[in-house]
Formats: sequence, structure tokens, C-alpha cells
Amino acid sequence: MDTPLEQIDELIGLLPLPVCVVNPVRILTNANKAGKAVFPRLTTGQDIAFFMRDPALLEACVKIIEHGGSAEVEVEELGTPRRFFNVSLSAFNKTSENKNYVMMIFTDVTLSKESEKSRSAFVANVSHELRSPLTTLMGSIETLQGPAKNDPEAQVRFLGLMEQEAARMKRIVDELLSLSKMEIQAHMPPEEDVDMLGVLSRTCDVLENQAHKKSMTIILDAPDSLPTVRGERDQLIQVFHNLVDNAIKYGDENTKITIGAKVNDKSLELFVQNFGGVVSSEKLPRLTERFYRVDKSRSRDLGGTGLGLAIVKHIVNRHRGALDIKSSKSGGTVFSITIPTNIN
Ligand SMILES: Nc1ncnc2c1ncn2[C@@H]1O[C@H](COP(=O)(O)OP(=O)(O)OP(=O)(O)O)[C@@H](O)[C@H]1O
Ligand SMILES: [Mg+2]
Repeated sequence: MDTPLEQIDELIGLLPLPVCVVNPVRILTNANKAGKAVFPRLTTGQDIAFFMRDPALLEACVKIIEHGGSAEVEVEELGTPRRFFNVSLSAFNKTSENKNYVMMIFTDVTLSKESEKSRSAFVANVSHELRSPLTTLMGSIETLQGPAKNDPEAQVRFLGLMEQEAARMKRIVDELLSLSKMEIQAHMPPEEDVDMLGVLSRTCDVLENQAHKKSMTIILDAPDSLPTVRGERDQLIQVFHNLVDNAIKYGDENTKITIGAKVNDKSLELFVQNFGGVVSSEKLPRLTERFYRVDKSRSRDLGGTGLGLAIVKHIVNRHRGALDIKSSKSGGTVFSITIPTNIN
């Protein structure tokens, strides 16, 4: 042993990554501050197996003690939250019995692991969503080429179906593109002064007809003037369009939809309320996930892609706002957005 343990302590203490040292009989001899912060149970003088149960890590450690060299092992540290580490192990300080000390350096790879996981889940979701209209399109083409070749009536029907499905695919792609554009803009604060009363009344006007088809009425419940907010008008219009569109789609026939505004000290609270099926509290936080739908087939029949609220959430975040969702039989389903106002 060339380097005294105190000196190793001093050296590894300078490193920002969690580091620990194991002697040739697998006893933990040193752990730096970063290491103890990540693994609070680390105690020197104990067998390393006491803290780290990962078989691959222990196996690599023993191999290096016996034969020297180095290794990289990925371990999953159980606990809440679960974390993943890339551990690099290297031999040093060979003893007179030809055994080695092992230095382990831990790199926390949880974030990249998680984003890799959510990226692949996202790709799987997109493929799944595009596959069903694509299957219908291919089936219709086959029918037009075969059985419906000389049947003008069937041709009209199948072409209509194809048009619908192609439009659906276009919507998915357009919405995904606008989501990714918003991700890029997330850190660029919007710069226009927006009159929210204009945004709300425009939403009422545009969607009035759609509401009437279900015998619903849209009511604007807001003071005569509202303070402006720093925002991007088109995006804010999209937020209320998506929320009222949902209120019409998921609200009951013959009910009222209210678009409201309340002025607070330094913020504006805007809400859309409708009455219909109640969304249970455990499902509420999931509504803004991409492609999440409480009732997939109902939403799909209504032409939904499950991206509307994900877009709303992104826009609200970009406006430094907060989105709150409540749902109950008596109070209805209410989406409230609080946005800071331009009052200094
Ligand atoms: N006002 C509401 N009342 C009850 N459920 C709602 C309401 N708004 C949204 N939801 C639920 O949340 C899900 C996600 O909504 P979102 O707007 O993201 O997608 P969508 O309406 O299905 O499709 P898209 O908005 O892309 O047309 C809906 O499928 C529905 O189950
Ligand atoms: Mg929607």
C-alpha cells in the first residue's frame, strides 16, 4: 500500500462525483462527501456488499481486486426515486500479495435514462396513433382497386373515409410539429400585450355554432375590461379554443359552458367550465400527457388526437402561468389558468 488512506481521503474529497475506495478484502475504506450525500448509509470499515447489492457490481469489484484492470457497470439503485448509476471501477495500490484496491466513481445517469425511456414511449405512441388511420387508408385503397372497382357508390364512400383518415393523420403531424415548436420556444418569453377579453369573446364567437349543434350555450362571464397580459395572442387563442372545444365535446347536451375571468392582485384567472361526465381525481393529472384520453374510442370518434391539452399546458408554461383542473358533479369540470398581468 503506497498511498496512506488519509491522503486518499483528501484527494477524493476534492472530486465532485461520488467516489469510494474498497480494500482487497472488499471493505470500504474511503468515501468522499459527494458519495455520502448520495448513499447516506455508507460507513467505512464495512463490507461493500452491505451497501451495494448489485451482483454485477460486486462481481466486477472482486475481479479487479484479484486481477487488476478496470470495468464499467451500470447499476440501478432501488429506492424512491429510483436512480441509475454508471460506475467505473479501477484497480490501484497493488499490495504485496498481488491484490488491488478498487476505486469506484459513480455517475448519476438517471436523467438521461428517463428521457431515453420517455422518448421511446413517445415514438411508440406516435407510431401507434398513425398506424390505425394508415391501416384504414390501405384497406380502402385495396377495396377501390378490387371489389369496388366498378361500384361508383362504394367509391364515393371509400374516398370519403380516406379523406377523413388522411385529415386525421395530418392533424396528428401538425399538432406534433406545433408541440415541438413550443418546446423550442419554451425559454423565449412572449412579447405582445394581449387583450384577453378579445381572446375570450373571439373564442365564444368561433365555437358558438359547434356548441349549438349539441344545444349548448357558451356564456362569457367577465368584467367589462381586463388588464393585458404579456403573451402571444395566437397561442392564447389556441388555449381557449382547445379548452372550449373539449367542453363542447365532453360536456352533456343542453348544458351551459362558461368562459370566465377574474382579476386578482397581480394575475388574471381565466377558466372554462362545463357540465358532463366527471373525471376522477387520479386521472386529472394525466389529462395533459400527450395522447392520454380517458375514453380513447370516444375521443377518437370525435376526431380527437389526445394532444389538445398537452398543447395547452406548453403554452401556459411559456406564459409563466399555472393550469389547474377540477372536476365534480356539482361544480362541473373546470380548467383554470392563472397568468401574471402587466401591472408593475
Ligand atoms: N372538459 C372535459 N371534460 C371531461 N373530460 C375532458 C375534458 N377535457 C378533456 N377531457 C379528457 O381529456 C382527454 C385529453 O384531452 P385533449 O384535449 O388533450 O385530447 P382530445 O380532446 O381527446 O383530442 P384533441 O384535443 O387533440 O382533439 C380527452 O380525451 C378527455 O378524455
Ligand atoms: Mg381536445
